[in-house]
Amino acid sequence: MSRTEPLPGPLEPRGRTIGAEERAAVLRVLDSALLCGTFGTEARALEAEMGRLYGRTAVACSSGTAALHLAVAAVNPGPGDEIITTPISDFGTVAPILAQNAVPVFADVDPGTGNLDPAAVEAAITARTKAIIVVHLFGAAAPVAELRDLADRHGLALIEDCAQAWLGTVPGGDLVGRYGDIACFSLQQYKHITAGDGGLAITADPESARRMRLFMDKGWDRSIGRLHLSLGLNYRMTELVAAVARAQLGKVSGVVDRRRERARRLLAALADLPGLGLPGEPGHAWWMFPFTVPGEPGNRVWAAALEREGVPASAGYLERPLYGNPALAEAPVYGASRFPIDRDYPPGLCPNAERLIDRTLVTLPWNEAYTDEDVDAIAAAVRKVHAGVV
Ligand SMILES: Cc1ncc(COP(=O)(O)O)c(C=O)c1O
Repeated sequence: MSRTEPLPGPLEPRGRTIGAEERAAVLRVLDSALLCGTFGTEARALEAEMGRLYGRTAVACSSGTAALHLAVAAVNPGPGDEIITTPISDFGTVAPILAQNAVPVFADVDPGTGNLDPAAVEAAITARTKAIIVVHLFGAAAPVAELRDLADRHGLALIEDCAQAWLGTVPGGDLVGRYGDIACFSLQQYKHITAGDGGLAITADPESARRMRLFMDKGWDRSIGRLHLSLGLNYRMTELVAAVARAQLGKVSGVVDRRRERARRLLAALADLPGLGLPGEPGHAWWMFPFTVPGEPGNRVWAAALEREGVPASAGYLERPLYGNPALAEAPVYGASRFPIDRDYPPGLCPNAERLIDRTLVTLPWNEAYTDEDVDAIAAAVRKVHAGVV
């Protein structure tokens, strides 16, 4: 049965938790006339609240990409050093590597989850490797305990990209974001909680926190004077963004709880369908609801059929792996030079990732506002498509 009313989504009030608290927060800042995070109290209060939530020191900044740039800068790769990461993520995971003149090295992923495969990461380590950036894709914990162990054995830094995994946990383990030397979060419009754009980087290491704070504000240690100690940019979070983010942070646990409860309902409704690869449930933060389908007739047929049933669906999440983008595969990076890129990223580099994108991965947007009827309609649509194509 086709749906008539669209599901609530992240570009409208029904699909966001923006309410009286955020409105009051914005007005509080406007009335103070203090809009820059350097001089106000909101950005520092947000850092304290995020710090308490994760038991870490937090640095607020202007986006998730900025948070990853702070992290890479703090890890301090030399020009041409290598950073291993995943081919399935937002481009914000990889852009900071290039911006710091390091070489992105792509390791293949698990064919079921799309998360980094520790064996592939280990095989990619060379004498030039400086760090690993692991992404918790769609909200499912990557094998981060194994990667922590690997990083320690090889003397590498581990950065966690938690942009999609607010309050995700490792099954039987800790919160994701507490395994890495640094972990990064996004407050972009589509994330669990949002301030439009915004980012947070967390760490337990005071020196990394110091470096990130400097990089966020032009290398300027304002406690000393007008002195720029190291290269930095202006990645400051504004007070308006921080005030909204504080209100949203107070809601994140409820958002994740509701998404989990909604996801359990869909998982139960689909559990008996042969050929579908459903996500493991414990600890998943459900930014999206991903599942895998048989390679024939493949994910594009599936996504188109679901769309016809009124259920938004993406085949493969990306059109191509990160390394297939012109920015990495062919375009110059600076001037006419491809530096720091010193290699080709040929098709077939990460076969599991390519197969997920091209053939087997389907993602459904997920939202805490879905009603039982919404979830049941999604389940009915998936069952109908399954009956037609498998
Ligand atoms: C996994 C991941 N990393 C990084 C980013 C970049 O975050 P932002 O858009 O806030 O720069 C995003 C989202 O956009 C993301 O999903």
